[in-house]
Amino acid sequence: MTSIAVEINGQEIRRDVPARMHLADFVREEGRQTGTHLGCEHGVCGACTVLVDDQPVRSCITFAVACDGHKVRTVEGYADDPVMALLRPAFSRHHALQCGFCTPGMLTTARDIVLRCPDADEQKVRLELSGNLCRCTGYVGIVGAIRDVLDQTRGDAHPEITALREATNAIRNAAVIPIAKAAFTPFEATDTGSSATLASDTSAAEEPADASTAAKGTRIKGHFTVPYPAAEVWRFMADLPAVAACLPGAELTEHAGSRVKGRVAIKFGPMSASFNGAARLERDESSRSAVLKGAGQDSLSQSRANGDVAYRLVEASPASTRVDVDLLYSLQGPLAQFSRSGLVKDFVGRLIQEFGKNVALRMDPTRAPDAQLPPARLNAMSLGWSVLWSRIRRLFGAGG
Ligand code: FES
Ligand code: FES
Repeated sequence: MTSIAVEINGQEIRRDVPARMHLADFVREEGRQTGTHLGCEHGVCGACTVLVDDQPVRSCITFAVACDGHKVRTVEGYADDPVMALLRPAFSRHHALQCGFCTPGMLTTARDIVLRCPDADEQKVRLELSGNLCRCTGYVGIVGAIRDVLDQTRGDAHPEITALREATNAIRNAAVIPIAKAAFTPFEATDTGSSATLASDTSAAEEPADASTAAKGTRIKGHFTVPYPAAEVWRFMADLPAVAACLPGAELTEHAGSRVKGRVAIKFGPMSASFNGAARLERDESSRSAVLKGAGQDSLSQSRANGDVAYRLVEASPASTRVDVDLLYSLQGPLAQFSRSGLVKDFVGRLIQEFGKNVALRMDPTRAPDAQLPPARLNAMSLGWSVLWSRIRRLFGAGG
């Protein structure tokens, strides 16, 4: 434990804290200032933004011990602030909030924009605001409110704000590095991705995820076992239309040799998309492994997806084959926010299971040629609910 003293909204708080405690927890739990919200706790969403020595910082990635002897200002601490006095009614006028979860961080960043960028146009405001995420408003009202205040404070219309602007510039140019610069490595938007291993077996219950890191994008691994010899499964997997028919939501529109075009429809809770794209299959006969490289775009959300589906056949016994699947994908655009959630990983794990079941059914030699197969189309509701249900059971320790 380390003994620290931090001034929060004018009141000194002295505590012994663990070195790992972040500033947001210190502010909320020790300072009792719960207006500071935590969204991602990864420095991404901006909900936790507060001022430290008048500089906006993300309190979820700032250690409380790094703020020893410094001044913190949260959304509760602006009663006499002339910029907030304009921003608050502007946010109301422009309907710049709905649930209000992002608003404490938004206001802090908005205040910084008004002080630091007095001549900002809409594009500049949007750029400066891009580190604060709002899941409700669509940003039009927020940008409008900030521009409204910028318009009101042009020139010397508010001398107290002009003085604050000068003070802000002076801090920025000061030789003494304030805590915001000393305690932080600036956040850079990079996607290091995360991954989960999902075991799927047509006869086994779902196993929990085992996370590891992928170099790029999101990686999900899984496997399924089919009761046929590896040579037969390998032959079947070369038949791209047959393989596509086993994948829930997939539909081929063109097929020429190892190249295909088609679409994949996805619907899961709030996420609904139909990706149109092309893919190419590369097969390595000697190792019975292959990779399907594809890219597509959802015209509705303008999201783009790139992905490699690699698989390898492993002889589990002379009469059964395990198929190891390694999916590496990245999403750009509005749907990217869903790409790494645990539910999506569970969902993809279930897709792999469904795919394995369909492969086994389609390879069944006893199946009558005209027998109806279960549709390979995605049953979003039942799949979605089964994923949610298995999560709930895991949560309450009921097992798979
Ligand atoms: S909670 Fe700190 S940036 Fe999201
Ligand atoms: S108003 Fe709900 S997250 Fe921004």
